[in-house]
Amino acid sequence: MNWLISFLLFFSSLNGDEFLWGVSISEYQNSGADRIPNCNWAEWEKLGNPYIVGAQKSGQSSRHYDQYQNYFPLFDELGLNAFRFSIEWALVEPEEGKFDLEVIEHYRQELEALNRRGISPMVTLHHFTDPTWFSERGGWEKEENIPLFTRYCAKVFESLHEGSRLWCVINEPNAYSFMGYFLGAFPPGIQEPQKMGEVLANMLKAHVAVYKTIKPIDPDAQIGFVHAYLTFEPYHWWNPIESIPCSYLTHLFNEGELQFFKEGRFSYYAPFVADVNFEDAEAVDAYDFIGLNFYSRALISMVASTQVLDSVCYPDEVMTDMPFAVYPEGLYLALKDLSTFGKPIYVTENGAPDHRDDRREMWIKGYLAAMHRAIDEGVDVRGYFYWTLVDNFEWAEGWNMEFGLYKMNNDGSFKLKEGSKAYQRHIRKQRGLVNN
Ligand code: BGC
Repeated sequence: MNWLISFLLFFSSLNGDEFLWGVSISEYQNSGADRIPNCNWAEWEKLGNPYIVGAQKSGQSSRHYDQYQNYFPLFDELGLNAFRFSIEWALVEPEEGKFDLEVIEHYRQELEALNRRGISPMVTLHHFTDPTWFSERGGWEKEENIPLFTRYCAKVFESLHEGSRLWCVINEPNAYSFMGYFLGAFPPGIQEPQKMGEVLANMLKAHVAVYKTIKPIDPDAQIGFVHAYLTFEPYHWWNPIESIPCSYLTHLFNEGELQFFKEGRFSYYAPFVADVNFEDAEAVDAYDFIGLNFYSRALISMVASTQVLDSVCYPDEVMTDMPFAVYPEGLYLALKDLSTFGKPIYVTENGAPDHRDDRREMWIKGYLAAMHRAIDEGVDVRGYFYWTLVDNFEWAEGWNMEFGLYKMNNDGSFKLKEGSKAYQRHIRKQRGLVNN
């Protein structure tokens, strides 16, 4: 009988370490302002044009919060074994210091339902949205607000850690701070590089504080940071008018955050406009994995384009609906770069905005091949989460950017897009599932 028990244990340990094939969503993008009216994004939506293209509304989106069960048949159809979603701070803590236990119980049930179906959850504690009360207190601009976030994370983690092994603290501190404080395209709409640096620094400090608070509660939990990996590259490599701003932008957006986690040193500098520095040696041990969100690169041309900072593509490249090209090589390069950190990596987001559904298949095949190439060369990638399951509210772009593997019909049913079948076939082959 011993051999049977050993076999079962061996098998279950294999299963536990199985590569994760998933999809990624965020609560606000998939549940909308009708469900979450008390956050910074619901307020931002009220401003309409030009802050949100065409003054579109997120409404109820695809009702993740209330009807998450409707996603389950889609997981089965795709053959997934993982699902990344975010918990909404504004729902959990609608008023400062007052936690809604029903909301926490709701999330506990969702985690339980996922586990019962053999779907490994990956939970994100912050995905771009802040409760209105937090914004009113100065949000991430104030270092003294960090304990407010830590308290929320501790409450959620204490209550829910048994339901999920994988936790992401903050989704893309670099993109949150860049969009909100450098470009001003996200709330609070500020265009001050120095402020971006201060906000980013506070978010990185918050990550470390959260990790140190929650890790001891459950040392088996795997807690990571999620980075938007984006480099800015000159279209004409010989042109300093392009290459100099690109190297600063790559430094501010990409390198500062990564250097912090690699070396415990945050430096953020651009002449005359920004200078933020601090050190925290504990940062290098304040994460168990890296979450990589990779889409493409920003190829900047001051000559071929009329707009400063407009991103273009080379003639032999295929553009998506956003100003970035299909660029699988970039995922390979990013994985190789991050492999030097010596921690496991999950591709926590990757996907194409493609309203015609005529580039999605090419995207999926190219990026998955690039990831497998990195894995074959020894990079420790543990999972891949496609962004996203169903067309959702793409922030300032509203409904115009269709990243979904599925389209939602007017009657609330979901339809798998043709191009998405490449992902379905890939997962089924990799997981040895029979074709449906
Ligand atoms: C964000 C998502 C967003 C996606 C596509 C990522 O930076 O985490 O919320 O929808 O990019 O733009």
